[in-house]
Amino acid sequence: MPIKRERWINRPAFVFAAIGSAAGLGNAWRFPYIAYQNGGGAFLIPFFIALFTAGIPLLILEYGLGQKMQAGAPGALGRIKKSWEGLGWWAVFIGFVIMSYYAVIMAWTWNYIYASLSVAWEGRVLEFFYRDVLNSTDGPLQLGPISVPVLIGLLLTWFLIWLILRRGVKFLGKVVLITVPLPIILLLILGVRAVTLPGSMEGLTYYLQPDFRALLDYNVWVAAYSQVFFTLSVGFGVMIAYASYLPRKSDINNNAIITALADAGISFLAGFVVFGTLGYMAGAQNVDVGQVVEEGIGLAFIAYPEAISLLPFGAAFFGFIFFFTLLTLGIDSAFSLAESVITGLDDKFKLSRPIWVTLVCTFGFLVGLIFSTGAGLWWLDIVDHFVNNFGLAAVGLLECLLIGWVYRAEKMRNYVNPVSDVKLGKWWDIMIKYVTPLILGISIILTLSERLMVPYRDYPAISLLLGGWMVVLLLIPVALIFARKKASRPGFLQPPQ
Ligand code: PHE
Repeated sequence: MPIKRERWINRPAFVFAAIGSAAGLGNAWRFPYIAYQNGGGAFLIPFFIALFTAGIPLLILEYGLGQKMQAGAPGALGRIKKSWEGLGWWAVFIGFVIMSYYAVIMAWTWNYIYASLSVAWEGRVLEFFYRDVLNSTDGPLQLGPISVPVLIGLLLTWFLIWLILRRGVKFLGKVVLITVPLPIILLLILGVRAVTLPGSMEGLTYYLQPDFRALLDYNVWVAAYSQVFFTLSVGFGVMIAYASYLPRKSDINNNAIITALADAGISFLAGFVVFGTLGYMAGAQNVDVGQVVEEGIGLAFIAYPEAISLLPFGAAFFGFIFFFTLLTLGIDSAFSLAESVITGLDDKFKLSRPIWVTLVCTFGFLVGLIFSTGAGLWWLDIVDHFVNNFGLAAVGLLECLLIGWVYRAEKMRNYVNPVSDVKLGKWWDIMIKYVTPLILGISIILTLSERLMVPYRDYPAISLLLGGWMVVLLLIPVALIFARKKASRPGFLQPPQ
């Protein structure tokens, strides 16, 4: 007899945990600049279309899968068909890689929290980020020593994740009751501050002014879909693992819609915070907003702190709040990724949960050391690009094809509908069978051909090969090895009655 599965304390605990996983660093730094780069306000159209045609359907699929099969990604897929278990491991391991660098970004955040007390970056944001915190080298092949501040932050992050996860989903459900609402409240405070600054309107115009021509550019659509997948945490086994701790009669559809809308709202709000503040900075420096916007990580760690240091008063306070927000936003995403790995392992192999938690956290920390070296930022950038663009899209595509065509979308819909408040129509089958796979397939082909023609940024080829292609592809044999190992938990591949 398999042992009794652990349960969330109640429905809100699950919904909060799912929102916590979805709302992370990606909302605060990725969404605002992706929106601004891809048509500003007009980006909301492809974004919401992507949310409804792919994000929510896939979220429902993952919730349904986890809840019906009562197992994390490897077990859930393996219970449908033994040969699919490997896909589950692949998803989980891709999540593991993301987690290992996600924790490093959180390590930087700790440093900024500490530095905010004295606004230590004032007048020297670039130097502060690249030298003081990262101790950055000139390129990925110059590894350089591990940065001590990052190492300390990384230890703190992993210790926290370990503390939270060790006690299982019951405890986790209590933690998210704090770590999910808190950053929302803090973002609201920062948002009010931002929009009441002189010049903020210029920033917001930059962010939201619609450029409808962008809708004709397929890159904008690819950006919208990939942002939706990343932000909803689908394709990494996280949502499957979380839903596996729900009783089989729990609501699915409504929970998925709530998760997705809450997450979108948080992204939108973060955009106000970031662009409102940047508008103020541009005004103070008498330049165009476009000149102060940074792409990617630099938005949160260079542009925003600089803007904060120019505030008329309370720079330390608002700096502290901003980075504390990032930390609380990120922590539940980070531990959800770890949970997906832990659930996968714990379902199949007999060791006590605390031991799995300790092993996964230790291993995550060790892999994170690579991203803490002087070349860490470069490796992080490369791995992030490849894992998200190929790994995630490939898992999503395969999930849709397997569940849509082989298992049959209709069968899944017939399971989720009776337990849910909101019922799905046939449209859901169409999304899962045709629309989502088609879009994912196209975006994989497009990015793949682009990558083969033009290497990513100007990194040396060897680093792209190692950090990009190898990481994504090597995880496949590793996943297959795990799938072939004999389960030491009885009934691992038996679907629950
Ligand atoms: N959704 C998180 C974010 O937006 C990132 C994440 C991806 C978390 C995948 C868990 C799984 O930051």
